[in-house]
Formats: sequence, C-alpha cells, structure tokens
Amino acid sequence: MARFSFSSRLASAAALLLTSIPQLHVAQAQQIAYQNGLGLTPQMGWDNWNAFGCDISEELLLETAQKIVDYGLRDVGYHYIILDDCWSAGRSDNGTLQPNMTKFPNGMAYVADSLHNMSLGFGMYSSAGKLTCAQYAGSLGMEKQDAMTFAGWGVDYLKYDNCYNEGQEGNSMISYNRYKAMSDALNATGRPIFYSICNWGTDYPWNWAPTIANSWRIAGDIYDSFDRPDTRCPCTTWDCKLPGFHCSVMNILNKVAAFTDKGRVGGWNDLDALEVGNSGMTDDEYKLHMTMWALFKSPLILGTDITLLSPSTLSIIANPAILAISQDPAGKAAFRVWEKSPALVENNTYSTDLYTVGSTYFFTGQLTGGDFVIAFLNAGPTTQPMSATMNDIFVDQVTTGSSAPVPYLSVSWDVHDLWANRMPDSVASSILNGTFNNTSGANTDMLNGTAVPISYYYNSTHSSYEEGLAANNTALLGKKVGVLSPGGKVSASVAGHGVAAYRLRSQTMIPSASKMRRRKRDEL
Ligand SMILES: *[C@@H]1O[C@H](CO)[C@@H](O)[C@H](O)[C@H]1NC(C)=O
Ligand SMILES: *[C@@H]1O[C@H](CO)[C@@H](O)[C@H](O)[C@H]1NC(C)=O
Ligand SMILES: *[C@@H]1O[C@H](CO)[C@@H](O)[C@H](O)[C@H]1NC(C)=O
Ligand SMILES: *[C@@H]1O[C@H](CO)[C@@H](O)[C@H](O)[C@H]1NC(C)=O
Ligand SMILES: *[C@@H]1O[C@H](CO)[C@@H](O)[C@H](O)[C@H]1NC(C)=O
Ligand SMILES: *[C@@H]1O[C@H](CO)[C@@H](O)[C@H](O)[C@H]1NC(C)=O
Ligand SMILES: *[C@@H]1O[C@H](CO)[C@@H](O)[C@H](O)[C@H]1NC(C)=O
Ligand SMILES: *[C@@H]1O[C@H](CO)[C@@H](O)[C@H](O)[C@H]1NC(C)=O
Ligand SMILES: *[C@@H]1O[C@H](CO)[C@@H](O)[C@H](O)[C@H]1NC(C)=O
Ligand SMILES: *[C@@H]1O[C@H](CO)[C@@H](O)[C@H](O)[C@H]1NC(C)=O
Ligand SMILES: *[C@@H]1O[C@H](CO)[C@@H](O)[C@H](O)[C@H]1NC(C)=O
Repeated sequence: MARFSFSSRLASAAALLLTSIPQLHVAQAQQIAYQNGLGLTPQMGWDNWNAFGCDISEELLLETAQKIVDYGLRDVGYHYIILDDCWSAGRSDNGTLQPNMTKFPNGMAYVADSLHNMSLGFGMYSSAGKLTCAQYAGSLGMEKQDAMTFAGWGVDYLKYDNCYNEGQEGNSMISYNRYKAMSDALNATGRPIFYSICNWGTDYPWNWAPTIANSWRIAGDIYDSFDRPDTRCPCTTWDCKLPGFHCSVMNILNKVAAFTDKGRVGGWNDLDALEVGNSGMTDDEYKLHMTMWALFKSPLILGTDITLLSPSTLSIIANPAILAISQDPAGKAAFRVWEKSPALVENNTYSTDLYTVGSTYFFTGQLTGGDFVIAFLNAGPTTQPMSATMNDIFVDQVTTGSSAPVPYLSVSWDVHDLWANRMPDSVASSILNGTFNNTSGANTDMLNGTAVPISYYYNSTHSSYEEGLAANNTALLGKKVGVLSPGGKVSASVAGHGVAAYRLRSQTMIPSASKMRRRKRDEL
C-alpha cells in the first residue's frame, strides 16, 4: 500500500513529469509513418496457417495460447495469436460476417476475451477481395462494416490477404486505394488494430504501404525449404508479376535484399511467417532463417504446432540475443554488403549480384546505442571460413564523402556471438515437460544446483528489450568471444546452410554524429 501513496509534493512532481509526455509523443509520431501507435518494433506472434491450414478451431487457438504462456514465449514477446483463413460462415441477412459456430462455438468475442485474459492479442483474417483465398466471404467493398465487426469482437490485429481482388491491381495506385479502404475503416473504429497487409509484394507495397499499414508482405508464400526452387514461386527478384507460393527461405531473402531499409519504426517488410519447427529444414537452416528474419526486421510470426514443440525449436525461437536484434528500438534493418559466388571467389572478386546457389554473403546493420550487428551467411553445402574487414562492417560509415578520419575504424569493438548462449536442450525440455524449476530467485538458474546467471532466456514482460539493452543484460548481448581491433577483421567458420551472427559494441565512445563530418544523407 505504502508504495502507491504519494505525498502531495511528490504527486505534483509527478504531474510535472506527465506534462512532458505529449511532447515526446509528437516527436515520436513524426518518425512514424502510419499513426495507430502500433508496430514500434516488428510484431511477434503465432499464426495457424503454416502448420494447420484450414484445420482450425477455438480449442486449437486457446490451447496454443496457453502453451505460448506456459513455455515463456509470451514473455519473450510473441503477443498476437492470429487466426488465418477458414473461420467464417459467410454473412448474415444484415451483411455481418459470421463465424463458423462448429469451429467457434462461443463466438469470436469469447476468443478475444480469453486471449486478453492471458495478456495476448487476437489476430483476425480477411481478404481485400470478393472472397478470401479459401473462398469464404471477403471484405472488398465491405470494409467499414467488417472493420466494425472485428473491432466489436475485440480484435487487435488484421491480416489482410489479396485473393479474388476483382482485378484491382496492376499499378501501385490501384493497390494502394484498395488497401487504404481497410486502413481507413480500421482507424474509424477507434480501436487500435495492427494492420498487416498480405498482398505478396504485388505493385511494390514497400513504396506505398508505410503510410497506411504496420507491415506488408514482400513476396509469395514461404514454404518449409531452405533453397529448393519451385515452379510455383517463379520469381527470383523483387520485380515480380506472379508472387506464387512455395518460396524458399533463400528466395525470399534474396528478394528483400534490395530494399531492407523500407521497413522502419511503425511499418515493416514482412518476409512471411516462420517455418522453424516444421521439420523441412535442418537445425542450422532454421537458425539461419530465424537470424535473418530478425536482422531484416521482419515480423516474427511462429508457424508451427506449439503443442508439439521440440527443445531445439524452443531454443531457436526464444533466443534472447537474436530477439534483441529484431526488437531493437532503433528499428533499422541490416543490409547485404556483399555476395561471393563460388565462381567469383575462385577469381578473388566479389559482387552484389543476385542470389546464386552456394554463395556466401555478409550483412551489417546499425543498432541502438551505437552497436552493430553483423552476419555471415553460407548458402553453400559445406563449411566455409568467412571474414569481414572493418571496411566491410562499417561500409556506410567509411563513405563519408570527406577526408576526415573515420572514428569507427580507430576504436576496438567487443564481439558477442549471438548463438553461443543458446538455451541447453536439458533446460528446454524441462520447460516443455513442465518440470523446470524457476522458483529459485533472482536471475539464477538453479536447475543443476549451481547458481549461474541466466543467459538463455529474457523476460521482456518484466522489462522491455530497450531497458534490458540499456542495462547491458548479458542474455541480450550474447557471449563475448573476441575483440575487433583497428585494422583487424572478424572471422568465422560457418557451417553449410548456416549463419554466424555477432553484436559489436565499441570499447570507447564514438564521437557523436554532430561532432563528426556528416556523410551524405541516404535517399529513402
Ligand atoms: C487514426 O488516425 C489518426 C491520424 O493518423 C491517428 O492520430 C489516430 O491515432 C488513429 N486512430 C486509430 C484508432 O488508429
Ligand atoms: C463449419 O465447420 C464445419 C467443421 O469443419 C464444417 O463441416 C462446415 O461445413 C462449416 N460450415 C460452413 C458454413 O462453412
Ligand atoms: C446483424 O446480424 C447479426 C446476426 O444475426 C447480429 O448479431 C447483429 O447484431 C446484427 N447487426 C445489426 C447492425 O443489426
Ligand atoms: C476474462 O476475465 C474477466 C475478468 O476476470 C472475466 O469476467 C471473464 O469471464 C473472462 N473471460 C473469459 C472468456 O475467460
Ligand atoms: C575466372 O576468371 C577466368 C579468367 O578471366 C575465367 O576464364 C573464368 O571463367 C572465371 N571463373 C568463373 C568460374 O567465372
Ligand atoms: C523433463 O525433462 C528433463 C530434462 O530433459 C528430464 O530430466 C525429466 O526427466 C523430464 N521429466 C519428465 C516428467 O518427463
Ligand atoms: C525448486 O528449487 C528450490 C531451490 O533450489 C527448491 O527449494 C524447491 O524445492 C524446488 N521446487 C521444486 C518443485 O522442485
Ligand atoms: C526465471 O526466473 C528468473 C528470475 O525471476 C527470470 O529472470 C527468468 O526469466 C525466469 N524464466 C526462465 C525461463 O528462466
Ligand atoms: C551445472 O552448472 C555449471 C555451472 O554453470 C555448469 O558448468 C555445468 O555444466 C552444469 N551441469 C549440468 C549437468 O548441466
Ligand atoms: C515474466 O515477468 C512477468 C512480470 O514480472 C511475470 O508475471 C511472468 O511470470 C514472467 N514470466 C516468466 C516465464 O518467467
Ligand atoms: C553498459 O555498457 C556501456 C558500454 O559498454 C557502458 O557505457 C554503460 O555504462 C553500461 N551501462 C550499465 C547500466 O551498466
């Protein structure tokens, strides 16, 4: 009780503090394209589609939600439980969308209420077409009424598909207008609803969606394969007239490479839901998949059966050092610095050409507080030694357009491995079988009777990623494995179809940007 009773002097100090908050919001709003207050970091959650398709029910959703809470996944950030296609029973006489009461016997408001009681968000699905992809009633022309229905049920998120769109596509303006209708309708409900556009990259949504949505799919549907080409996903570049489906992880990574910067605070490039755990890829391939989705600031939407989660899947999707990259408050995606194809390596040159099977790639990105993230990706089948120089890592910082010295090159950087602290299988399986003993107190793991700092799990409900990063939480930074000194390089032996990823933190303060000569501003 005493904690919550203010003296009047304290209360007025608190009131003074509060008056400064609206200003903060204005400053923030100027940086945020779509202003519903959501998507400040890429959204996290679970969607039933990849694992269950149309085989859905209230029971599946609520059982999954309970597991997401029990396994600590809600508390690492997986917030939205997203119902995909096939929930509907069409429209009633007055035009209101009705749920299939066999699948959802208590109705949708009950599902929303149950999820809210677990501190989770409820995601709904519809299509900007006459019909949804599975041919249930779509929302084209019915946006206002359907948005009101969703808001009335207590929906927090809308995945909005692109099937049966009656030909309303072909240029950016047509697609923009069709998707803006639902954006406006959601806004008019007065309920903040995360707006996730799923038009598969048609008409280049990364150019027009940031002002009307919180995320937009950039390519055709993912499938559970690392790099197998499939004729049903015919494009290999971002400029695509038939997005299709059965797109591999490498196919999607290659498509987004050209415009990773389009995802920013408030709206994100969506590389599609995760396949981690669905058993079509190896452990190394799933680590790569997870790592790159985090570096590129894609939404992290789980797409596997949570009731059958394996220890290795849990330790990939809950890796705090990787999630801290995804949820970094600066919201800047990493980008590809180079590709070396086997042919080009042979001739000791490199290029930024489009994806070639078996290439190796290097990525770099800026994080909050002056940190950097780097990743070595080996798309070839065998282990490769890979390395990057300071000029590779700080490629944007060295091209200052002036002859002033580049401070990034003259300081030493601590190198933290983002996978070295992966949760041990013994811990993961005890969490999954309900025998994990976490009653032993502050930030220690008493599992084997020895107190050790927990480095493999971070509770972002308890304190946010931003707070944890500011406090140098070891789980979020990863394991320090070396130092990058001026003139040096970072080297790694990278498994076939694998990735090595590191957080770099300077040992010395970098002079603030205002004291340095500014480089030319990036075009956006
Ligand atoms: C609706 O849009 C306005 C203007 O961008 C914004 O200030 C407001 O927060 C939005 N409301 C909702 C519920 O999204
Ligand atoms: C509702 O779902 C049940 C069970 O899957 C199915 O048999 C039935 O055809 C569905 N009804 C409608 C109207 O889609
Ligand atoms: C429309 O019909 C549904 C189902 O019969 C009902 O729940 C809803 O209240 C009706 N809405 C209006 C606006 O009459
Ligand atoms: C949600 O919690 C409230 C408050 O405890 C309760 O009244 C309500 O019945 C709960 N709803 C569901 C669906 O469990
Ligand atoms: C490497 O360069 C040589 C000489 O220019 C050329 O003949 C060869 O085709 C190149 N290798 C590959 C695999 O491109
Ligand atoms: C749960 O998992 C732990 C760690 O693998 C194991 O030691 C324990 O025997 C399991 N308990 C049950 C009840 O399966
Ligand atoms: C959990 O660990 C604490 C501290 O070691 C111990 O006192 C307690 O009995 C354990 N609880 C269970 C359920 O094993
Ligand atoms: C266990 O408890 C500690 C201390 O309260 C906490 O930091 C941690 O996130 C909890 N969960 C797991 C899975 O370790
Ligand atoms: C127990 O904890 C210690 C301290 O971290 C560690 O070195 C050891 O490997 C652990 N043993 C087991 C069986 O997990
Ligand atoms: C995370 O922290 C919250 C708030 O402190 C707590 O309620 C929750 O049980 C914690 N979750 C885990 C998995 O430790
Ligand atoms: C975190 O680390 C940075 C640099 O390594 C240091 O400047 C800062 O004081 C540390 N913050 C805390 C809260 O320990």
